[in-house]
Amino acid sequence: MKLDQDEYDRIKEIVYKKTGLALKGDKRDFVSRRVANRMGSTDIQSVKDYYRYLVFDPEGHELSELINLIVIGETYFFREFELLRLFGEDILPMIVEKKKKAGQKKIKIVSAGCATGEEPYTLAIILKELLEQPDQWEIRIEGIDINRESVNKARKGQYTDHALRDTPYVYRDKYFQKEKDVYAICPEIKDMVSISACNLYDRTQMSRLFGYDVVFCRNVLIYFDRKSAAIVFENLYRSMNPGGYIFSGLSESIGRMTSLFTMERFKKLFVYKK
Ligand SMILES: C[S@@+](CC[C@H](N)C(=O)[O-])C[C@H]1O[C@@H](n2cnc3c(N)ncnc32)[C@H](O)[C@@H]1O
Repeated sequence: MKLDQDEYDRIKEIVYKKTGLALKGDKRDFVSRRVANRMGSTDIQSVKDYYRYLVFDPEGHELSELINLIVIGETYFFREFELLRLFGEDILPMIVEKKKKAGQKKIKIVSAGCATGEEPYTLAIILKELLEQPDQWEIRIEGIDINRESVNKARKGQYTDHALRDTPYVYRDKYFQKEKDVYAICPEIKDMVSISACNLYDRTQMSRLFGYDVVFCRNVLIYFDRKSAAIVFENLYRSMNPGGYIFSGLSESIGRMTSLFTMERFKKLFVYKK
């Protein structure tokens, strides 16, 4: 089954309207296969009926199922090590200093577009390793993603060694339990992290999130166009504390998408500040 151009454009439009996801280039074959898959699972015979089902499903369950097939994110532990080093060695000490001065002992971080959870658990390990007395801090690391299947996997916290390919052996031994052929994240790290489904583009859903000292929004911008990215950044901006930091991926530029944040340069790397 292949969607005709008109059917493809309509599906593309509804996906964009709800999620900000801009299907760039010609993804007609890719989307056709996923729509055929969902039509099979829902026992719907025609694209016209499927489209109607998508539009008039008030809870958005079917759209969510389709998105699960379209937005699949690659990720792994300790991805983009130099950015994590910048966070751990330069940004975190500044946050700690600021908090101490204000008499506060709480740090809140979000991994926006956390996929299957490798990023938020990596951040928890970094905090555990680098804070002088981690037990004296109230640490909240949240992972959010639109893909509910990824969210469920992230909550499980079980990984193959492929996901740990860039993880230093010392952390692998310390923070993972090997169970047959999977590595399970250990309870002390798992307890620092909570994972939930959330659409970064949806202002209502995002308005429930607040008080972040740091936002990691890495390797997520590829999904949006300039207009939808601007909305995502407005939502993230509102969720952050004044003076909070936001990281994008190494090959992405927040400054090119929004003027809401101030850029700070650390040698060759950039981070943005509210
Ligand atoms: C390539 S992964 C990046 C994972 C991780 N941040 C990293 O850098 O390794 C991108 C993730 O963004 C998620 N995503 C895309 N659009 C989203 C949206 N509107 N709201 C929330 N998550 C979204 C995808 O589901 C995917 O899991």
